[in-house]
Amino acid sequence: MKMRKKIIAGNWKMNKTAEDSKELAQAIKLDLANVNEVDVVVCPTFTSLDTVSNVIGDTNIKLGAQNMHWEAEGAYTGEISASMLRNLYCHYVILGHSERREYFGETDEIVNKKAKAAIAAGLIPIVCVGETLEERESNTQEAVVSAQLKGSLAGLGASLAKVVVAYEPVWAIGTGLTASPEQAQEMHAFIRKTLAEISDQATADGIRIQYGGSMKPENAAELLSQPDIDGGLIGGAALKAPSFVALVKAAIEA
Ligand code: 13P
Repeated sequence: MKMRKKIIAGNWKMNKTAEDSKELAQAIKLDLANVNEVDVVVCPTFTSLDTVSNVIGDTNIKLGAQNMHWEAEGAYTGEISASMLRNLYCHYVILGHSERREYFGETDEIVNKKAKAAIAAGLIPIVCVGETLEERESNTQEAVVSAQLKGSLAGLGASLAKVVVAYEPVWAIGTGLTASPEQAQEMHAFIRKTLAEISDQATADGIRIQYGGSMKPENAAELLSQPDIDGGLIGGAALKAPSFVALVKAAIEA
């Protein structure tokens, strides 16, 4: 089996002005500038990307955005393209987060267009999937996640190997409820099996699958030591340097 390098990404969501972002990035940089056992990513708002990009410079901390448009340029008021993100030295972009699916009507088809445009521009997409509480209670979580994966990742060909998948059960996001390590592992193994169906086993074995949903220093070690959990996509606990740094350290030790 392939060794997968763990990846911890902070999704700052709609939090922090450019000034606040600068402060957080500086604090994170103090501890994480030279980490190379784990990939470290911070995803501030669009308005903070430039500032954070300047703070992290060419350290081992990489920059990610939280969304993008699939077109290269044009009359799309309020939107941002992949090349604009690359121009600010973004390496990653989060796509299809459940908040975008729920509040902004993003479908698998839209996520798929974005994923293709991101890859074409040289960005690594972090593609989010995950079921709602209702779907889990009706035991349809595998069907839901399988459809999301097949729709969002359709037609990527060999580029699929570049994608990072984030499993974020909607019921665990920002709620303090976390999937148990067993529940998360079970779904991550299912996701890998589905990725092998879309591509092949070797590709699926190389793809990193992050867990997201109330991950914090107290529960990280157990989640990150599961065989198919290759990192975390962190919301709340990424907004403060000490907890984000602790999560990266947990990933190094896992
Ligand atoms: P929380 O860590 O705040 O639950 O958020 C998870 C998430 O949505 C990351 O993208």
